[in-house]
Amino acid sequence: PFDVRIASTGATYTVPPGRSVVQVLQEQGVDVPVSCEQGICGTCLTRVLEGIPEHRDLYQTEEEQAANDHFTPCCSRAKSPLLVLDL
Ligand code: FES
Repeated sequence: PFDVRIASTGATYTVPPGRSVVQVLQEQGVDVPVSCEQGICGTCLTRVLEGIPEHRDLYQTEEEQAANDHFTPCCSRAKSPLLVLDL
């Protein structure tokens, strides 16, 4: 599991194994636009302010992934215990 924090509200949520960041946020009423939910379209691309994503998308280039400043919350996860998202 890892935590995601919404920068605008400071609210922090735990993402358990088997659930996506988008699923957890939607349950909490935090709306993230999604389309493919498979890491292909980039609709859900979200800015990461702190923490290191574990990229599982095919949308960003290798260079973009390596920058670790955006990730796709429909399918990607975290390498660090906490991600702070620009939401
Ligand atoms: Fe398509 Fe996340 S919804 S990449």
